[in-house]
Amino acid sequence: MSIINKAAAIGGGVIGAGWVARLLLNGIDVSIFDPDPEASRKVSEVMKGARRAYKQMVPGGLPREGRLTFAKTIAEAVADADFIQESVPERLDLKHRVLAEIDLYAPANAIVGSSTSGIKPTDMQVAMKKHPERLVVGHPFNPVYLLPLVEIVGGEQTFPEAIEVAKEIYASIGMKPVVIRKEIEAFVGDRLLEAAWREALWLIKDGICTVEELDDIMRYGFGLRWAQMGMFQVYRVAGGEAGMRHFMAQFGPCLKWPWTKLMDVPEFNDELVDLIATQSDDQAHGLSIRELEKIRDDNLVAIMDALSKQNKGKGWGAGALHKDYTKQLAKLAAKKPVASKAAEKAKALKPVKKAEKPKKKTGKKKG
Ligand SMILES: NC(=O)c1ccc[n+]([C@@H]2O[C@H](COP(=O)([O-])OP(=O)(O)OC[C@H]3O[C@@H](n4cnc5c(N)ncnc54)[C@H](O)[C@@H]3O)[C@@H](O)[C@H]2O)c1
Repeated sequence: MSIINKAAAIGGGVIGAGWVARLLLNGIDVSIFDPDPEASRKVSEVMKGARRAYKQMVPGGLPREGRLTFAKTIAEAVADADFIQESVPERLDLKHRVLAEIDLYAPANAIVGSSTSGIKPTDMQVAMKKHPERLVVGHPFNPVYLLPLVEIVGGEQTFPEAIEVAKEIYASIGMKPVVIRKEIEAFVGDRLLEAAWREALWLIKDGICTVEELDDIMRYGFGLRWAQMGMFQVYRVAGGEAGMRHFMAQFGPCLKWPWTKLMDVPEFNDELVDLIATQSDDQAHGLSIRELEKIRDDNLVAIMDALSKQNKGKGWGAGALHKDYTKQLAKLAAKKPVASKAAEKAKALKPVKKAEKPKKKTGKKKG
């Protein structure tokens, strides 16, 4: 059950709209601010896709949707929110302006999550003059309403309590929060994706394969393994009966062979963009982005559904979480709309203590 009473979304593009969809479909009211005059249309497009996917996930009927309101300012959007998710474009100056405003007008104990793909929270929270201690990075993956992972990263001024509350909040809306132990740019997921993307750009630029062939190599091969076991457990199994040690002994030396160009980046020019974009157009065979989104969503639901039946019915990996989440949604759907329970829980939680000061990092002399 959600512990959020009212949420605010600042930015309603690809990611912001995905957050809005996840929150509304969990029965949570959301107030959104986005200056784009097209924002309302774009959010409703994403909502359509999300409703469609959730109907497949919970065939018995969905919970009563939360109410969405479009605010005219950030101040209006965050005024009575206990959870705010910022999803504006990836520019530090803009993040600073927006976070400063959120900080000024949001209730002092509201948790602020940033969707940034790679900016360190320490570099963002300097703009928050009142309560920087409640900022966390809550980095999701697209589509936010389906993919459960959220990377949580705290900055130098973030209170440990804020991370704990953020974990509870994200988990309450069906997500898998993973707290990143040390703050680095791009965190963990995007570090891995950037490395793979850089190598992929080389392979296409050098004419080794097309974008379609590269995608086939992933989706017919190791992509299927990654989706259910990740990297290291798959390698453990690939080591045979001797497991990980044998795998390391066998493939460790390859790291020194010319198997990778990872440290080098191809020149990012018009020629490279044209090459990739043209091949990508061919690969799509005329399917629109919205059509591809539907196919993607159907496949994701089917994969998570299949994984939810594995492991003697307990579910495996994302499937185990999916099983719990769909049960939670079905329970919520069966319930009469008594909103006050969530409100009471949110009040009792008191996310970040106002009076508390961040603990000094530098070693104070012991008395
Ligand atoms: N696209 C992805 O796959 C992805 C994945 C994870 C995280 N992110 C991160 O999420 C954030 C948003 O990315 P996106 O892909 O949704 O971008 P987007 O361009 O689709 O959406 C950004 C939205 O922010 C709005 N905006 C601009 N200025 C604003 C302001 N001052 N106040 C409120 N809204 C404002 C824009 O009108 C737009 O609708 C970025 O930090 C990005 O790094 C993106």
